[in-house]
Amino acid sequence: MMTQLMRENYANPGSVTHSAGREIADRVAASVFSLAANLGANMEELVLTSGATESNNLALSGFCLHPRQHRRKIVSVVTEHKATLDPLLRLQGLGFAVDFLPVGNQHSLGPGLIDLQRLESALDANTALVTIMLANNEIGVIQPIAKIAAICHKHGAMLHTDATQAVGHMRVDVNELDVDMLSFSAHKFYGPKGVGGLYVRSQPRRIRLVPQIVGGGQQENRRSGTLNSIGIIAMDWALRYCLEDMTNSVQGLAANVGRFGNERIRLLRDALFERLVSGLEFVRLNGPSLDNPSERLFGNLNCSFYPLEGQSLMLACPELAVSSGSACTSANPSPSHVLLSIGHSEDQARSCLRFGVGRFNTPTEIDQAADWIVDAAEKLRRLI
Ligand SMILES: Cc1ncc(COP(=O)(O)O)c(C=O)c1O
Repeated sequence: MMTQLMRENYANPGSVTHSAGREIADRVAASVFSLAANLGANMEELVLTSGATESNNLALSGFCLHPRQHRRKIVSVVTEHKATLDPLLRLQGLGFAVDFLPVGNQHSLGPGLIDLQRLESALDANTALVTIMLANNEIGVIQPIAKIAAICHKHGAMLHTDATQAVGHMRVDVNELDVDMLSFSAHKFYGPKGVGGLYVRSQPRRIRLVPQIVGGGQQENRRSGTLNSIGIIAMDWALRYCLEDMTNSVQGLAANVGRFGNERIRLLRDALFERLVSGLEFVRLNGPSLDNPSERLFGNLNCSFYPLEGQSLMLACPELAVSSGSACTSANPSPSHVLLSIGHSEDQARSCLRFGVGRFNTPTEIDQAADWIVDAAEKLRRLI
């Protein structure tokens, strides 16, 4: 579909003086309308970006550095993605006070969750913005964003959420969540890489942003640069497919891969965990219980293989696309800040692997993945 668009609709959507430009501009507008509607927003409230990193930068710096912004405090959480943490550190360098809230540890009732009372006590009349991710990329924990929004607004602070891991995987409606800004990225819901967006509320609270990319004045001057027309259209298709399929009921795990929803993904994820736990007595779950879908993403599984190293397991299973959740891939990778935040020691954090089960996975692949890991872990165990 994308190659056909590239062949036939290669005009610049900003060039509306000719019919080819107008045609692609209309198609892009229809996609933005549909994307916005699927998030409960108006199309004027979406800024299209190159992905969630850019969206987060625009949300955080664009909001805090606006000349009308006189508040100088930001509240966030220790387990945010680097694409939030780094822009926050930069704002800190510019004189903003940034308060990073802790999260519940692995042995508490809400591993990875923030404490709402602690949030409330961190807010005051000087707090401009709260930024808290909707779902965590490493341990899948889902924060109660609507409750968080109510607390923020009581103190006159605005709320941004990085919903990159949530959009396309769970119901996300900007009005139900009552957020002021929300970041998303197409490649996290099977769309192309390099395209995403930022929802920016227009009413009843009007959010004003200083553009972070200036130039040709596209998108009402909020983000200059030629629109990634084909990426935006593909992002809309991808989200529509995900939402259509999300609630499909399970009709046998092997049936029609990709067309069945979250319940199927959850069964596959749980089957993988069962296989790992029954094959290796030392496997432990990280993050919230798998039985609580309102607190954990369906496709997320993060396990600790202590005393084995996650990196060694990964190297022993080269065909398995998993992640150690580490901040880098160097010889001595730093342990995941998320796993440290839920109370793991550095060695324990280095023993973890993160599995992302998706709509195109099959039960055979799940069995294969479990076999590879169990075999590799048994061999490594014999070596230590
Ligand atoms: C929670 C979260 N935020 C932001 C990003 C960055 O997104 P992008 O790759 O679109 O810049 C990611 C990607 O891994 C993510 O998981």
